Amino acid sequence: MIKETEQYVKDFHQGDTSGHDYSHIERVRKMALLLGEQEGADLFIVEMAALLHDTVDDKLTDEVTAWSKLENFFEKIELNVEQREAIKHILKYMSFKGGKNISKLESIEGKVVQDADRLDAIGAIGIARTFMFAGRFGDMMYNPAIPPRDLETADYREKTHAINHFYEKLFKLKDLMNTESGKKIAADRHRFMEQFIDQFKTEWHS
Ligand code: ADP
Ligand code: NI
Repeated sequence: MIKETEQYVKDFHQGDTSGHDYSHIERVRKMALLLGEQEGADLFIVEMAALLHDTVDDKLTDEVTAWSKLENFFEKIELNVEQREAIKHILKYMSFKGGKNISKLESIEGKVVQDADRLDAIGAIGIARTFMFAGRFGDMMYNPAIPPRDLETADYREKTHAINHFYEKLFKLKDLMNTESGKKIAADRHRFMEQFIDQFKTEWHS
């Protein structure tokens, strides 16, 4: 099942240049398994959800079609109902969505996959992904004249610049980590992003 899912996911992310290519999935998978082991989670559910977590994201695909494709795939690999429900719960609630989805993720499996995904959004790789995403979706690198957008109220499709994403999301993630092990890794990566932004602004204004 894992092997078939790997192939399904590779096909889905093929050619992505928005920071959601298959290497993102591999990093999330590896990190989720590490955190999952420490937290005593069901590692099959963790691995399946980590692999599939971005296949139903409305930024990357049409959500309705994606969910029905996923159901067909579950049918094909003969996952049982309990497993399907556990995985679907995670995929449904793990996305950041301006912070609105926070409290709904209940399983420990979901919490570790969410932490792993968030860890890949911060630090050096997180920074790189953010600029890839901005370029792919037509946002500028930086423009201090654009007022900050708050994801709690604004639509994420509203135009902004990549640096703004640090404030609307990335700098918030360390305090949203679910697990202790996740928090520790996040602290390090957070500091690195702060240094990056300081340096970026120093160069910009020099
Ligand atoms: P989630 O899984 O929480 O929904 P996203 O798919 O929105 O996460 O974000 C994953 C990564 O994509 C972010 O960490 C960031 O690097 C990039 N990203 C998402 N939205 C933006 C944006 N508006 N500007 C720049 N980068 C973004
Ligand atoms: Ni992701």
